[in-house]
Amino acid sequence: MWGGRFAEGPAAVMREINASIPFDKRLWQQDIRASKAHVAMLAEQGIVKAEDAARIAQGLDTIAAEYEANGVPVDLALEDIHMATEARLAELIGPTAGRLHTARSRNDQVATDFRLWVRDAIDAVELGLIELQKALVTRAEEHADAVMPGFTHLQSAQPVTLGHHLMAWYEMIRRDRDRFADARRRLNECPLGAAALAGTGFPIDRHATASALDFAKPTDNSLDSVSDRDFALDYLMAASQCSLHLSRMSEEIIIWASQPFGFVALPDQWSTGSSIMPQKRNPDAVELVRGHAGRITGCLNALMMTMKGLPLAYSKDMQDDKPPVFEAHDLLALSIAAMTGMTQSVTFRTDRMRALAESGFATATDLADWLVREAGLPFREAHHVTGRAVKLAEEKGLALAALPLADLQAINPAINDSVFSVLTVDASVASRMSHGGTAPAQVRARIADAKTLLGIS
Ligand code: ARG
Repeated sequence: MWGGRFAEGPAAVMREINASIPFDKRLWQQDIRASKAHVAMLAEQGIVKAEDAARIAQGLDTIAAEYEANGVPVDLALEDIHMATEARLAELIGPTAGRLHTARSRNDQVATDFRLWVRDAIDAVELGLIELQKALVTRAEEHADAVMPGFTHLQSAQPVTLGHHLMAWYEMIRRDRDRFADARRRLNECPLGAAALAGTGFPIDRHATASALDFAKPTDNSLDSVSDRDFALDYLMAASQCSLHLSRMSEEIIIWASQPFGFVALPDQWSTGSSIMPQKRNPDAVELVRGHAGRITGCLNALMMTMKGLPLAYSKDMQDDKPPVFEAHDLLALSIAAMTGMTQSVTFRTDRMRALAESGFATATDLADWLVREAGLPFREAHHVTGRAVKLAEEKGLALAALPLADLQAINPAINDSVFSVLTVDASVASRMSHGGTAPAQVRARIADAKTLLGIS
């Protein structure tokens, strides 16, 4: 490519360290799409002849068909996907191929290709996350009334419903989708035509290429255009946050699947056995989702470190932008699909959840609230009275609701028979009707909102 200036070829190791084709071949569709938009604009502007542009476009279509059928051939001498495609174009149509690179540099070319790729990746993630949300909403609706212990500090706190818990996961994913949408909006400006760093003297139409590639507008500064990788970092930040959510969900499923909890039975399709312990059923799928979060956030860190000291405009360090994004995307796509499959097929053992909710004095707050409401006690005093009731129940090995009235009255004489109506777990959850609370009626209302947003009935 630069034979005019160089007498010798590169050393073998130079060739190897310099080449990005082994990984950037994944950009081939975006590269061909951007080249076709570029050459169509060059013809429209009278910068290349219409018949040359047509031959170039045809040649690019031929190459696309070849890549589709046989994959992209990896020849380190051709360095990257941009040079490989141009070299193949020259084999197919001869010297006319050399006109494609008019008014363009690999610097704006790679920036454009990679933006297109990340945009496609965001769209794929969005579809995956919608499927996960649908699965969560479906399971939440099935279990809108199912009582389970709610935890703080992983200690039984207050009863909640399983539907409410699953809708908490839905909310995490709703924010993730919003972050990806935000990344997509900011990404959607086209760097093509920034050329090497300074723009070009050719009378190009950057608005035309931007709109042909479905970008909202061209970028506004040529130096920034070729040196900016914020879009890749934005993607990795959204992916990292999403992976943290998937990891936290995984952790809960892992805890729930343990024998002491026994809240879920893992589906055959999403678990593995042990080669030595016949009784085992391991939550490998979700353990790997939890593990992948470490790798995905590692990818974010890798690219942040690559970018942190780079002066304007392009530096070759930036070629290292692609492997972490590709890796994170592959891991995230798999993680989302695995979490969706797990959500759809896991068996919730609601009998077990209810039994544990009833055993942990989880309605103690309801007793304290009753004392405030019905007996006029200040909450701090009610808390104290309730603490004594819990202590007594614990000593007697009884649930709060099973304590004899006389015992409760010995602790505080204002307590009467009506207290028992708030001490059951069902009464407890049903009472929590504040917006976003765990009452089944509230949960169903939030599920209805979610279904409207997702367009499902
Ligand atoms: N393979 C390079 C990359 O991915 C393309 C840009 C090369 N530009 C340059 N000035 N050498 O970043």
